[in-house]
Amino acid sequence: METDRNLYDTVDALMQEGKGILAADESDATAGKRLSIAGLLNTLENRRAFRELMLTAPALEDSISGVILFDSTIRDTTSMGLPFADLIAARGIIPGIKVDRGTVPVEKFQGETVTEGLDGLTARLKDYYDLGARFTKWRAAFTVVPKPSDEVILMNATMLARYAAMSQAAGLVPIVEPEVLYEGEHSLEEAQEVTEKVLAWTGDLLERYRVDLRGCILKTSMVLAGKSAEMSSPEDVADATMRTLHIAVPHSLGGVVFLSGGQEAKQATRNMQAIAKLGKEPWRISTSYSRALEEPMLKAWAGKEEHAEDAQNVLVHRARMNGLAQKGIYNESQDL
Ligand code: 13P
Repeated sequence: METDRNLYDTVDALMQEGKGILAADESDATAGKRLSIAGLLNTLENRRAFRELMLTAPALEDSISGVILFDSTIRDTTSMGLPFADLIAARGIIPGIKVDRGTVPVEKFQGETVTEGLDGLTARLKDYYDLGARFTKWRAAFTVVPKPSDEVILMNATMLARYAAMSQAAGLVPIVEPEVLYEGEHSLEEAQEVTEKVLAWTGDLLERYRVDLRGCILKTSMVLAGKSAEMSSPEDVADATMRTLHIAVPHSLGGVVFLSGGQEAKQATRNMQAIAKLGKEPWRISTSYSRALEEPMLKAWAGKEEHAEDAQNVLVHRARMNGLAQKGIYNESQDL
């Protein structure tokens, strides 16, 4: 087992200034949705080509500190036979792994879900450590409308905390992700109310389950009006998000990263920039985007070998823009 010092070192490496974490951990089924953007079928070969395109992109390490992988990817290799985790680590990027097993409906709680994956987790964590992972992720999901029940918030927060403690015991930094979903017509105020409650309960349960907060990262959604409502301005998003974090999130956490949640790529960059512009916060703050990084790349690629280099450039460009936004020096007029 690793000492806390190693957990803190991993947190420091993940939360480097100007860098974000690439969430390339979609399940095999969700990878199919991504591949369809490039006009490709969801085959093992195409999933491998998609991941290989991202993870071999030149200079990715200049703006990406860590990559979250899915189980089948951490066990897979590039077309040249190099394990993906080794490829990432050789580039000075930290390999991570999604360890939850997805959401399932909660009986008698219409429309609510709980995340599964605790059974057998200790053995899986050891396996992932041996495969090269140094951090993990577990995602729970909540709608704004209908409002989640106290019972299901507590259930998910408890599992996040239990998972985080198990992960730390295995020498792996947990990224605790209670996502409040962007889909819907809800107002920014409604999103704020749900996010505050979900984050407060999550923080409380992490403390009660004796998770070392300094060796733990929170991955949260930004607070913004629903995707089908009028788009919130970056200033409103930044203000509501940071107000919520200050009310609900313990200051001793190792870091806070944002998911993109289905925001358009530049919108996610702009919102990160507005948050950074608010100035110094008690936490180190950065991004851990999936769709806002991958989708522009997949469009540019269109599944064609002759577009591969352009697609990699698009990915690295978005990661760089997010890195500048993390430092509060993003200039949209220079964004392609
Ligand atoms: P998005 O940035 O696409 O929301 O994905 C982040 C993530 O890790 C979801 O679990």
